[in-house]
Amino acid sequence: MSAQRPERADEPTPGHALPLLYNVVYCSRAAPGVDAAAVERIIESSRRRNPLGGITGLLVFGSGIFFQWLEGPRDNVLALMALLQTDARHHTVVPLASGEEARERLFPDWDMELVGADAIRDVLVDALDNAREAGHAQVLRDMLEQLDSGQLSSIGRA
Ligand SMILES: Cc1cc2nc3c(=O)[nH]c(=O)nc-3n(C[C@H](O)[C@H](O)[C@H](O)COP(=O)(O)O)c2cc1C
Repeated sequence: MSAQRPERADEPTPGHALPLLYNVVYCSRAAPGVDAAAVERIIESSRRRNPLGGITGLLVFGSGIFFQWLEGPRDNVLALMALLQTDARHHTVVPLASGEEARERLFPDWDMELVGADAIRDVLVDALDNAREAGHAQVLRDMLEQLDSGQLSSIGRA
């Protein structure tokens, strides 16, 4: 048999391999006294630390509620979640969704981006418009659905 071996999924062509990404979405309540300056400090330390663990995402803050999307290698995201749970600047951390799949990052340039609560829908719609992969688009549709109909709809509203 001289036929060439077909390309296999576990032998990705260089430059085309999709990373296996774990993602978590949660919301939490800010501790009393957590203001814009405190949130800015959270963003600063996130931007310093997240690149070390290959983590990207966005943080929404409004009306005393945080909403955060994290994606990266599973172990690193889980380690960050464990650390976050001990952070006294918020409490009542409610995981909303998590999953793992091989795909491109949703927000590849954001080590951690602070998004105003009123802008979160626009951010998600924009990302959905630009989504080239089905799995990618589905995650965004799920988040939009949660935002429009579920628990997240109260975020940023008094
Ligand atoms: C709502 C919220 C989101 C946070 N997000 C991140 C994050 O994405 N990455 C991170 O390293 N730390 C994040 N932190 C901060 C961590 O809990 C922890 O304080 C920090 O990583 C410690 O870093 P430092 O003391 O070296 O600045 C977050 C904290 C809060 C309250």
